[in-house]
Amino acid sequence: MKVLIVGSGGREHAIAWKVAQSEKVEKIYCAPGNAGIGEIAECVDIAAMDFDGLVAFAKEKQIDLTIIGMDDPLVGGVVDVFEKEGLRVFGPRANAAILEGSKAFSKDLMKKYNIPTAAYETFDTPEAAMEYLETSEYPIVLKADGLALGKGVLICNTKEEAMEGVKTLMLDKQFGCAGNTIVIEEFMTGREVSVLSFVDGNTIKIMTSAQDHKRAKDGDLGLNTGGMGTFSPSPFYTDEVDKFCKEYVYQASVDAMKSEGREFKGIIFFGLMLTDKGPKVLEYNARFGDPETQVVLPRMKNDIVDVFEACIDGTLDQINLEFEDNAAVCVVLASDGYPEHYDKGFKITGFENFKDKEGYYVFHAGTKLQDGEIVTNGGRVLGVVAKGENLKAARADAYEATKLIEFENKYMRNDIGKGIDEA
Ligand code: AMP
Ligand code: GLY
Repeated sequence: MKVLIVGSGGREHAIAWKVAQSEKVEKIYCAPGNAGIGEIAECVDIAAMDFDGLVAFAKEKQIDLTIIGMDDPLVGGVVDVFEKEGLRVFGPRANAAILEGSKAFSKDLMKKYNIPTAAYETFDTPEAAMEYLETSEYPIVLKADGLALGKGVLICNTKEEAMEGVKTLMLDKQFGCAGNTIVIEEFMTGREVSVLSFVDGNTIKIMTSAQDHKRAKDGDLGLNTGGMGTFSPSPFYTDEVDKFCKEYVYQASVDAMKSEGREFKGIIFFGLMLTDKGPKVLEYNARFGDPETQVVLPRMKNDIVDVFEACIDGTLDQINLEFEDNAAVCVVLASDGYPEHYDKGFKITGFENFKDKEGYYVFHAGTKLQDGEIVTNGGRVLGVVAKGENLKAARADAYEATKLIEFENKYMRNDIGKGIDEA
C-alpha cells in the first residue's frame, strides 16, 4: 500500500512511525512533513490546506490511503474533497469535524444529548456577552467558537478580566472570525485526562489514556502552549472513570453525532476533567492529540493501518484494540522563548545516540533539513519519548534521553509526569 500523511508535527511523525510498522505498507509520503518524518517517508512540499494539490498528488501517485493528522484541513472539508474524487481517506467529513471546529456546536450537542459538561451560554454579540458577565460568578471561562490553535480559551478571575477577554475575542478579533461567536462557561476544577478513540460511525474503541502539560513552565506556570510533554497512562483514569465515560460519554457522543446526521469516522479526542461531581467533557477534538499521540501509539499493539481501514469500512467492531501494559513519557524539547519569541535555525546534534535504542523515540516537530544538517525550525522542536514498566521508570529514562540531544536554545520542562506515579 501507498500511504499519504497530511501534517508536519510530532503527532504526524508518530503516526508515520506507526504506519511504517505495518507489513502492508510499501511506501509513505508526507505533506509537508519535517526532517524526522523524512527519514521514514518521502516529504512532499504541499501545504495541508492545499486540497487541490493534495488530491492531484494522491491521484498521480495512486495513494491507497490518506491520513489527515491536523484539525484545519479536517474542519475545512479535506475529507469531503478526497471522497468526491473517489480517494480513500481517514478522518471525519466537515459536517462531523465541526465537533472540534465549533465549540458552540459541541456544547449544544452535549446539552441536547445529556453528555456531562460545564454549564454554558453562547453569545453572538459583545454587548450580550458583557451583560451576562455583570451577574456571573468568577472565575469564568471564555472560549472562541472556532479554531484558534488551542489558544482561544481564556480563564478569567474577575469581571474586569472577563470584559477585557470579550473585547480581545469579539472586538479586537485576536483569533479572527473564530471569535465571532463565543461560549462562556462555568469554571471547573479537577485533573485533566486526554482519551483518544477510533470511531467508525457506529462503534467507538478507546485507546489508552494520557495527560498533557500545556503550560510553558514547571509547576504549570507560564503561558499556554501546544503541549510541553505527556505521559500515558494517566493513573487518574481509574476503572470507575472508565466505566462512567463508557456509560455517559463515549458511545453517547458517537450516537449523538449519528442522530444529527453527522456520522463521525476518524479520531475523537475527549478532553476530560475529573471534577468532584464526576468526569465532564472539556472539549472534543476531531484528530489525534499532539503530544498525546507520541506516548499513546508507541504503546499500541495493533497494526494501525488495519484500524484505520476498519474505521473507514465500518468494521471497527471486529478489531480488538490492544495496548502494552507499561507506560510512556514524552518530554518536548522546545526553543527557549516558546510560545512567544524564539530563534530558530540551530543545528541539532545527538540523533545517532538513539540508533537501535529500544523503547526510546525522538519524534520531530519543528525541524528541517538544511544543507545536509537537521536544524530547529519551530517552537516545539522534538518530543523525546521513553517507555518503561511504569511511569516512574519511563520518566527517568525520558529525562536521561533528553541529555543525548543538543541544540543552542534547548528548553524543556523538568516536571513532566512528576508526582503522579504515587496517585
Ligand atoms: P479547551 O481547548 O476547551 O480544552 O481548553 C483549554 C484548556 O483550558 C483546558 O485544557 C483546561 O485546562 C482549560 N479549561 C477549558 N475549559 C475549562 C473550564 N470550564 N474550567 C476550567 N478550565 C477549563
Ligand atoms: N495536546 C492537546 C491537543 O492536541 O489539542
